[in-house]
Order: sequence, then structure tokens, then C-alpha cells
Amino acid sequence: MSFSASSKVNVLLVGSGGREHALAWKLLQSPKLGGLFVAPGNAGTFDYNVPISQTDYRALVEFAKRNSCFTIIGPELPLHEGLVDQLSSEGLSSFGPMRNSARIETSKSFAKNFMKINHIPTAEFRIFEDHSQALDYVLSIGGNAVVKVNGLASGKGVFVCSNIDEATNALKSIFIERDFGHAGSSVVIEEKLSGFEVSLFALCDGKVARFLGTAMDHKRLLDGDRGPNTGGMGAFSPAVKFDRSQIDLVMRKIVEPTVKIIGFKGFLYVGLMITSDGPKVLEYNARLGDPEAQCILPRVKFDILDRLLAIDKEGLQSLDEPFTLSEEYSCCITMCSQGYPTKALETGFEIAGIADAQRLDRVNVFHSGTKFNEGKIFTAGGRVITVNATGLTLREASERAYAGVRLISWKGENHRTDIGRDPNG
Ligand code: AMP
Ligand code: GLY
Repeated sequence: MSFSASSKVNVLLVGSGGREHALAWKLLQSPKLGGLFVAPGNAGTFDYNVPISQTDYRALVEFAKRNSCFTIIGPELPLHEGLVDQLSSEGLSSFGPMRNSARIETSKSFAKNFMKINHIPTAEFRIFEDHSQALDYVLSIGGNAVVKVNGLASGKGVFVCSNIDEATNALKSIFIERDFGHAGSSVVIEEKLSGFEVSLFALCDGKVARFLGTAMDHKRLLDGDRGPNTGGMGAFSPAVKFDRSQIDLVMRKIVEPTVKIIGFKGFLYVGLMITSDGPKVLEYNARLGDPEAQCILPRVKFDILDRLLAIDKEGLQSLDEPFTLSEEYSCCITMCSQGYPTKALETGFEIAGIADAQRLDRVNVFHSGTKFNEGKIFTAGGRVITVNATGLTLREASERAYAGVRLISWKGENHRTDIGRDPNG
């Protein structure tokens, strides 16, 4: 199925996070949008939700077919499990990579070998399937290494180690305690890079790519980048200290070859460490980041649906229009439940103040783990709300976002207080 340039289009948006709420918010600005259906969505997308799980692929395909939908997939799991392949085999259009291309995110060993063979700059690495061999290796290098679970681990399978104890504990958690299940049946052990981190996003049609913005994520739980890694506690866009010439270099040397060789279609997200030897890839993701999407989408000045449909139909090379982003800064703060990022979460608490925060100038409140019940909104996950704000400077965007955060509360709420506060990120 493909859609004509003039008619309205129904969209099925798969996922239930803040990224999907931000995508829904952006899609709703498009004059091209017919019906919007979010499966399963959260309280922020309540009016558009359909009760289909993001992993009930048969029901998603049936729904897309019955309602003539263009499907946009937010999270990595349905990509990993081949939702795009299934839609395509039914002749249905979608935006996202096929299962094979999504391996660039879903298998770290695939991504590392791909980069090595294709001379894409990244940290030196070794891959191990055996606990004792991995242990011998980390002991031989003094434990100063990054240990990564090979498969999907919701951003929690990376251990940045500085000594033998830390590296030994990481391997124990993966191989002995099996904290990551099958995803941890092998590990990638990497050289530890230093520098500063930047996330770069691109829209890709399987052959070429267009730049979609940069962001700086804050993955650690606590202020000052301390504590355990999380899925992301806040972000801002654009990344400071990263200019147009560096963006062009990354697009030319990393993004474009990757898209062409892999045949990648969808949102590509490259996590980079900017080292003294230049940018090196820390990871690829086959989707938009969360909360980076909540930061970047408010800067997007073009009709995203129109562009995604055009990419699907004609490819990027036929599009002359600029993909303009606002010059403003955008900052996002993620508010979490007590216990996040462990599994011992406390949820089910009523959330107050969302409407007050939403009324602030240039503030958007995006939901993640929230549930709607009898007119009230309750917490239902680890990351609960992301407050976004824009401003002429990063400080202004950050102050505005924190003004929104101060209005929202629930029992056990937790957030970082330093996102966008340091002008150097
Ligand atoms: P990843 O999910 O692979 O991006 O890793 C999560 C985080 O771990 C990154 O954002 C970095 O902060 C850190 N990290 C990953 N790989 C390395 C590396 N080779 N050197 C230093 N830090 C790293
Ligand atoms: N914020 C990091 C991610 O979405 O993977």
C-alpha cells in the first residue's frame, strides 16, 4: 500500500513511552494526518490509544491492514522482532528498519564487527561467550574496560569499569546471575574511551540520510553523572561544543556509509564519544532516543508526517525541501518513580500538577509510564514524565523546564537537578 500526495493518512504509532507521546504530538500538527492510533500508548495519548500490546505483532498488522495505516514504530523491541518485515510482507507501509538492519542496535557484536570491517571509528573490542575467558581478559588489562551485554537491555547492560572488582562484578551479573537473560549470553568488552558524548539523529531511506539534530543525553541516575546507567534522565538539544563541521564529518564518515551498506530505513541514532582522535561510535540505535526525541521533535519545523511519507514513497534524493530545525535550545527533564532503574519500582501513585506545568509558556509535558483512571493520572512505570521546554539559551530552556518539573509531584518522585545547568553540558 502507498499513499497519494494529497490525501490524508491514518497512522498507527507503536509504543508507550515519552518518545511516542512526543511523536504523537508532532504528528497531530500535520495537515496530512487522518486518524491517529497509538498502540498501546499512555495517559498522554489517551484519546488515540488502542489496546494492542507493542509486541502483539499479529494484532498490529491486522489493525494496520483494516484501517489502511502507515505504521511508525518507536521502540527497539518490535524492530528486533521483525514488525517491519511482517508489515511489509502484507504490503503495508511503515517507517522503521527491517529486522536485519535493526541488528545494528540489537546485537552489539554485529555492530562492532560491522564497524571494524567498514573502517567506522569505534573503540577497540573483544567478544566473549565464555565467563572464564572474559574474566581472564579483564584481569589481564587490570579491569579498566567497558563490559557490554551483547543483546537488548533497555540501556542498562553497560558497565563502565575502572578496576578489577567492578569488571569482575559486571561479568558475574551477566554470566552467573543471568541478570540479562539470553541478551547476556555473550559480552563485548571495549577499550574505555574518554572525551564528551553527543547523540546524532538522522532520517534514512535505505540509501541516504538527512541530519535530524544532535542532543546530549544524561544516562546516569544522579546529578554530576554519578550512579547507575538508566534509559536516560534528561537531555538537551542541540549538543553544545559540536559544530556544523563536526556534524558534516559524522554524517559523511559514519552515518552515510552505515545507511548505504546496511540499507537502513528509519530513524538512526548514533551515540558518539568525541575523543582527541575525533568522533568514535559508542553505539547505534535503530530508533529515536528517549528522552532525546522529546527534546528534538519540538525543534523540528517541518511536517514530519509529510516527510516520512515522501521518504517511504520516493526516497530522500527526490526531496529538495530543507529539514529545518529551530535555532532555539530545547531541554528535557525526566521524572522517575522511586526505585528506578531497579526492578523494585513503586508505582500506582496519583500525579498532581500536569495541567499547571503544561500551561507554562513553551513547556510541553510528555508522558511515559502513566495510566489514566476515572479522570486521574497515575504512575505506571520507571520513567513517568518528561518535561520539555525551549529557550533562546540552554540556561533559559533548562530553567523553564525545571519550573514545569516543580509543579508536578507524586509520592517518591525523583529527578536530576542539573540537566542543562552547565553551559558546557
Ligand atoms: P551504550 O549503551 O553502548 O551507548 O553505553 C552506555 C554508556 O556507557 C555510554 O553513553 C557511555 O557513557 C558509556 N560507554 C559505552 N561505551 C564506552 C566506551 N567504550 N568508553 C567509555 N564509555 C563508554
Ligand atoms: N536515551 C537513550 C536511549 O534512548 O537509548
